[in-house]
Amino acid sequence: MITILKIAKTSFITLVLGVLLVISYNFSHVMLQSYGLSEKPLTFNRVLCHSSWKWESLNFNVSRRTKLFLKLKDFFWDQHTLSLPLPYGTMGSKLILQKILATLTNSDMPGIVDSLKCRSCVVVGNGISNKNSSLGDVINKYDVVIRLNNAPVRGYEEDVGNKTTMRFFYPESASYNPIVHNQPDTLMVLVPFKQEDLSWLNWIVHNEKRVMKGFWRPPPLVWLGELNQLRILDPFFMYSTATHLLQIPIFDKTATTKNPFHPTTGILAVYVALNYCDVVHLAGFGYPRKDDPEQLIHYYGHNTMKDMVHSYHNLIHEVQALRRLEDSGAILHLRPNS
Ligand SMILES: *[C@@H]1O[C@H](CO)[C@@H](O)[C@H](O)[C@H]1NC(C)=O
Ligand SMILES: *[C@@H]1O[C@H](CO)[C@@H](O)[C@H](O)[C@H]1NC(C)=O
Ligand SMILES: *[C@@H]1O[C@H](CO)[C@@H](O)[C@H](O)[C@H]1NC(C)=O
Repeated sequence: MITILKIAKTSFITLVLGVLLVISYNFSHVMLQSYGLSEKPLTFNRVLCHSSWKWESLNFNVSRRTKLFLKLKDFFWDQHTLSLPLPYGTMGSKLILQKILATLTNSDMPGIVDSLKCRSCVVVGNGISNKNSSLGDVINKYDVVIRLNNAPVRGYEEDVGNKTTMRFFYPESASYNPIVHNQPDTLMVLVPFKQEDLSWLNWIVHNEKRVMKGFWRPPPLVWLGELNQLRILDPFFMYSTATHLLQIPIFDKTATTKNPFHPTTGILAVYVALNYCDVVHLAGFGYPRKDDPEQLIHYYGHNTMKDMVHSYHNLIHEVQALRRLEDSGAILHLRPNS
């Protein structure tokens, strides 16, 4: 079992973010290959949408929100009634957000997916269960492919595909050159966990002086991506993931400042997908059940189970939430092709 230690920021956090959990190798559901991999995406979607789940069947009392990103206008209309600081609200960050959003004026999803009647989405986790899965062709067929942090694509196409509609990241998980593992029109979605994350974005956008304080790992000093492709995820989603999906007590001051059990980018991406998409499938949200500290956890790199001992995320909550979603038919774990 994983021990969850209440320790403050450590460099181990990175190992855990985006690796979501324990559905293990029991990918118990539908084999997508039976739908015929060689068919056109349109057919693929029609099959998926036919069996789409109903948001109402989930026990969360929130409406589906399809506007994902912050925009300047929000601050005039002040839709953000929640007076919470990051990562759950914009309290204390409004000025810097206004400054950034005055430059990053594009806050939309690509029109081509936004206008679809039924949107099929796959969230590609970073787990080792992607390894040798041969899911690449299946993943590429979804309307929206969401990836997490700095998970690579090049060299892993056969297992994870090469299409990336959105990539969720934060400064410490940013790659200085997003061109390498994304496509030119990938939306790079900053998930702001803390005020410094917005300072980082502000440096990048306005080329201001870098101040390296407050990061648990040095973020890139330069960022070679297209500003036009940058978005800021509305903290509403972090708030709802925590309160509705995971039911973590974020209003407990000690819980948010001293021991922040914030949701991982992985579970956050699943929640965003539940809002935006009509079909939500996951790949690579699992790690081996066996209790071997040397077991690798990602489909890339060399991080092992023993690196995961320290985490300030409440992974047990996340595993349970994913189970509930799976049981209610809202999500489906893709099964490796063999
Ligand atoms: C759901 O939300 C609505 C509006 O916010 C509220 O009127 C209703 O009582 C809520 N229902 C439950 C079961 O919490
Ligand atoms: C993937 O396949 C390679 C080559 O067959 C094998 O050596 C490796 O152990 C496999 N990895 C996993 C995690 O299944
Ligand atoms: C993905 O790979 C296929 C086959 O190599 C290629 O035709 C396509 O352009 C690639 N797409 C992206 C977004 O890199």
